[in-house]
Amino acid sequence: MTMYEIIQKKRDGYMLDEEEIEFFINGYVRGEIPDYQVSALLMAIFINGMDKSEIPALTLAMARSGDRVDLSSINGIKVDKHSTGGVGDKTTLVVAPIVAACGVPVAKMSGKGLGHTGGTIDKLDSIPGFNTSIPIEDFLSNVRNVGLAIAGQTGNLAPADKKLYALRDVTATVNNTALIASSIMSKKIAAGADAVVLDVKTGDGAFMKTEEEAVNLAKTMIEIGRSVGLNTAALISDMDTPLGYSIGNSLEVIEAIEILKNRGPEDLRAICIELAGMMLYLAKKGTYEACKHMAMQELENGGALKKFKQLIESQGGNSNIIDDYTLFSQPKYSMSFVAKEKGYISKIWTEKLGRAAMTLGAGRATKDSLIDYSAGIILKKKIGDKVETGECIAELYSSIISDFNEAISMLDNVFEITSELLGQRESLIKKVII
Ligand code: URA
Repeated sequence: MTMYEIIQKKRDGYMLDEEEIEFFINGYVRGEIPDYQVSALLMAIFINGMDKSEIPALTLAMARSGDRVDLSSINGIKVDKHSTGGVGDKTTLVVAPIVAACGVPVAKMSGKGLGHTGGTIDKLDSIPGFNTSIPIEDFLSNVRNVGLAIAGQTGNLAPADKKLYALRDVTATVNNTALIASSIMSKKIAAGADAVVLDVKTGDGAFMKTEEEAVNLAKTMIEIGRSVGLNTAALISDMDTPLGYSIGNSLEVIEAIEILKNRGPEDLRAICIELAGMMLYLAKKGTYEACKHMAMQELENGGALKKFKQLIESQGGNSNIIDDYTLFSQPKYSMSFVAKEKGYISKIWTEKLGRAAMTLGAGRATKDSLIDYSAGIILKKKIGDKVETGECIAELYSSIISDFNEAISMLDNVFEITSELLGQRESLIKKVII
């Protein structure tokens, strides 16, 4: 068997068997198969898809490519959470502390930004001193002592996904059901939790543009999870417009802190309560409704904010940022994007908005690009809002780009302004699959 034959087979539309899938995953992880051959195979998978037997085989080969975290020393039902990715999606920063404050241990392994979407690890890395690469022993002891730890895919956890994720990010092979499902579920299986809540995003800012595709992805992942004894549930949520107002790493942490202070945008708060409620429900804390109520209480009584502070301190970060946002690295340059005409914001092309934030430095253009944690966009207007000619729609920030022309010309195609109000945003929570 050679990698050439495997690429050829997938290119010509045939199914790969378990042995071929193991061959390419193990060879790639060992460094025996080069990026260019794997890129070609990824593109063939992207174009021709994978069937119901190939996807679990790929997932398990990726999960087995490294270590499995052993959470058995931690009491209780351990529940994980994963989002398929969106623009302005900072829910983990709120949901994990809520769930931990309710007494359910959260051992969360998160990812970096992918394509036009942000990643929890990049957001946490924007907190001065915060270490997202703690050793596994510290990760486990923080879950035991604080009830919560969030780290990047430590050491040798699903290394196949780590390599493939970075390669897909720069080869236009992200938004494919087989590749997303195997990427997410391999990490979830290796991360060792008992249950997982999946936030499957749909809409222009998501990888899955239609609700049908999102439901299909959710069902594929639920099937994989349940086949290996991982209790898996999913939420289908709207990503046709960004979550909250802030896009970019430190900007999003600040918005998440606002929610933890029981303030902040209503859409972000609503989805966080929903996700936390679902996690508590899988941890058998009560009915779904009772669990959502419990989550709301921890936001209102400050329990979740206290947990977030403990999280920052236990991972070496400066928790004074909670009360003093100027302690984040500050952007050197800023510029307003203003409306060229008056009317109502009727559409926000969210993927393009995410890409504009990337060009400011909030995301990676190549595998090795450095992130500017201060970069990003704060929306001043969202769907349904009235805007006057010359009024600010969004503020742009960067420390590495002083010329905003590229981002501004991208934003020219992001906001649709109509003279009549053409409807409000889609419903935020589209489906719950428990
Ligand atoms: N999130 C992941 O972890 N993997 C993907 O492929 C997409 C979103």
